[in-house]
Amino acid sequence: MELGLQAPAGAVVFAATVDDYPLPPEEALCVEDAGEQRQRQFASGRHAARAALRRLGGAGQPIVREGRRPCWPAGFIGSISHTDTLAVAAVAAKSSGRSIGIDIERIRRLKPALHRKVLTEEERRRPWRDPREGVVAFSAKEAGYKAVNPLTDAFIPFREAEVELDWKRSAFRLRYLGRHEPNRLLNDGVGTFGFIGNEVVTLFFLG
Ligand SMILES: CC(C)(COP(=O)(O)OP(=O)(O)OC[C@H]1O[C@@H](n2cnc3c(N)ncnc32)[C@H](O)[C@@H]1OP(=O)(O)O)[C@@H](O)C(=O)NCCC(=O)NCCS
Repeated sequence: MELGLQAPAGAVVFAATVDDYPLPPEEALCVEDAGEQRQRQFASGRHAARAALRRLGGAGQPIVREGRRPCWPAGFIGSISHTDTLAVAAVAAKSSGRSIGIDIERIRRLKPALHRKVLTEEERRRPWRDPREGVVAFSAKEAGYKAVNPLTDAFIPFREAEVELDWKRSAFRLRYLGRHEPNRLLNDGVGTFGFIGNEVVTLFFLG
């Protein structure tokens, strides 16, 4: 199903219920040693991604992996995320931007004990207008990482990024606080978020 997230121009976002979708042999090889639930999540992410690629005129090529990162067919950028029950994928033509990242999280996933690990002091001090702000910020950082990491090959600790949320517009920006120059790319992107039932979906786009 196509998701009604405010995607940046040219990007499409698809979701799929986690299930046993068939995989082409090249993709099946990527998860041959994984457990059943992991295989289902992997297959569901690929299923959503292929639907998005088809919408953009792609030919349904396999999406294999380079390390943990998905390898997109020539001419496309994209990103995948899943929870236990839902998989989402965002895809765009390479001509429309440098990179894209998507993330989905269960709203309840971010227990207060985790706040210290994934939020900066400033983020924790803010008066939240909505109790979901913490998990949206967590998810926004993961979406940002998925967009930036394939371009820089560098890790970004959660507390080296700060989220500026515009709750009314369902939008966010990220600010890189660390010292690794290439990771400053995080500052260039724009993000949007939305809710599907008990989950939040964030999308980060580097034009
Ligand atoms: C990579 C990471 C973001 C994945 O998030 P997650 O919540 O564990 O899992 P998700 O279901 O959302 O995403 C998994 C998908 O992300 C994609 N992915 C994995 N590593 C990736 C990377 N380095 N770059 C881009 N995409 C990546 C894959 O498509 C994977 O699904 P697949 O294996 O089925 O293909 C997370 O494990 C991580 O390492 N985070 C630490 C760094 C970080 O987020 N910092 C934030 C500061 S900006």
